[in-house]
Amino acid sequence: MCGIVGILGLKPVAPDLVDALRRLEYRGYDSAGIATVENGHLDRQRAEGKLRNLEARLHDAPLSGRTGIGHTRWATHGRPNETNAHPHMSKRVSVVHNGIIENFRELRTELQAKGHNFQSDTDTEAVVHLITEEMDKGLSPVDAVGAVLRKLRGAFALGIIFAGEDDLMIAARQGSPLALGHGLGEMYLGSDAIALAGLTDRITYLEEGDWAVMHRDSLQIYDIDAKLVDRPVTKMTDAARLVDKGNHRHFMAKEIHEQPEMISHTLANYLDMATQTVRLPDIGMDLSKLTRVTISACGTAYYAGLVAKYWIERYARLPVEIDIASELRYRNAPLPKDGLAVFVSQSGETADTLATLRYCKAQGQKIASVVNVRTSTIARESDVVLPTLAGPEIGVASTKAFTAQLAALAALALALGRARGAITQAEEQCLVRALMEVPRHISKMLQDESNYERMAHDLSKAKDVLYLGRGVNFPLALEGALKLKEISYIHAEGYAAGELKHGPIALIDENVPVVVVAPQDDLYEKTISNVQEVAARGGRIYLMSDAPAESTGCLLDEYIAMPKVHPFIQPLIYAIPVQLIAYHTAVFMGTDVDQPRNLAKSVTVE
Ligand code: M6R
Repeated sequence: MCGIVGILGLKPVAPDLVDALRRLEYRGYDSAGIATVENGHLDRQRAEGKLRNLEARLHDAPLSGRTGIGHTRWATHGRPNETNAHPHMSKRVSVVHNGIIENFRELRTELQAKGHNFQSDTDTEAVVHLITEEMDKGLSPVDAVGAVLRKLRGAFALGIIFAGEDDLMIAARQGSPLALGHGLGEMYLGSDAIALAGLTDRITYLEEGDWAVMHRDSLQIYDIDAKLVDRPVTKMTDAARLVDKGNHRHFMAKEIHEQPEMISHTLANYLDMATQTVRLPDIGMDLSKLTRVTISACGTAYYAGLVAKYWIERYARLPVEIDIASELRYRNAPLPKDGLAVFVSQSGETADTLATLRYCKAQGQKIASVVNVRTSTIARESDVVLPTLAGPEIGVASTKAFTAQLAALAALALALGRARGAITQAEEQCLVRALMEVPRHISKMLQDESNYERMAHDLSKAKDVLYLGRGVNFPLALEGALKLKEISYIHAEGYAAGELKHGPIALIDENVPVVVVAPQDDLYEKTISNVQEVAARGGRIYLMSDAPAESTGCLLDEYIAMPKVHPFIQPLIYAIPVQLIAYHTAVFMGTDVDQPRNLAKSVTVE
């Protein structure tokens, strides 16, 4: 959830540390800080709030030093203020940390009993005191860290530097991702490769339990059993380097507009355009014998999985169980023989999703993952990876990753349908043709956003907003509500339209906008009955549909005319207005669209 960086450089590293932190700000932005080794001493600057506050600090009081670490924080323990900002340090050691040290309370109590004074409320500071204590006993920095790592429980990535050691940095990974970068006489570490994009394209990913002793011209990596191991150097993809807003005001806007291209790339990976059939990597099991698919994910990725449930049940006639990862991981659910478990994640690092994957693996499920970051832990631990080719997504609110996930999951549903004989070849071709039309429809829809600017004006006054949808479009109602609350801070809830009368209808009055996802499909009439129920109670209706506005028989506050498309691809198409409503409302309200409060892009803690 936080971002960490480190540089063993040939010149003062503070500017490059700040630059690398900027690429990691999507992971957290409550506070930021850097520490360097200067003339053998440790020094640091920290600031509450966004990175620009730290930059201002450094402008007034620069740090020199060719060895340094940096941190951008998403608070887990302790308020997001300067005292709790990283790096934490003693006279001897300075530490940046991403993740949670689960046993920090015990450690802290023990250390306090021995006379250690804590400055912050963080779990990280315990690591500083532990290393200092070991070094005070006479251990070398490397041996001290080795001893301390054995005492820590939880999920963490650490970057550590030492007073008097200008050519030493230690990195450790347990449960939180960590990439090391190789430069020319320089060495780097980062929470992900994107952080290092301005510095090098040669990356080594640490595995679970690894820790690394870094010098400018050498690197030793030890595994969890303290054995020296070799980890490959890989080349960072070009995509990882493309991280700027272009002509857009926000990353979110850029990412919404990239969807036609990113969906095309993703589809091209799975569709054979010539034969109009689906082409999936080998899942390593006979799909016709599959008994059940279990899908799990968090947030927006979960809603993509929910759409897939409808698709797989309908087009492959295969039972699908779906649950949010934070529930499934602790539910001790029995899983069937010959089952396929599918995990959906943009980052590939979400702690709950990863833990659920491990649970399902232990239960004998074949593991497939739909991930955007191919080098991520979830990708690496899967039997088969269905990559989404969305490129780096920086906006905290997921947009292009969602539609790319839908594209990959649509291909999976059709591949399952074909393998099980649930769809004929002609049906497969018809559905593939429909998918191939998606980028064109979305491009067209993105040409004019003036409607949304007007709606934003209206929605910004609402305290509560309801979203309704049915069938395969019900998850779009959930996604619409999540997107709106996430970036505009307006309370919103998504409901299956048929559920309205079982409770939520009590909320309807003339102050509650109800956004309805209502394509003209076989459920249209039912949804419109629900819309009439809202209208009868004075609710304000915002309808998105390909049916004429008059066909609802109600007075609509807003009508978003949608293209007529094959029902199979509706979720991909209706995702666009859902995103634009939230985006324009947030822009109108002046919130921090790309970095909304309290959130982080990659949730590597549970
Ligand atoms: O990286 P993941 O796809 O696993 O992340 C899952 C959720 O944290 C994520 O989708 C979150 O809900 C988004 N901020 C929603 O826009």
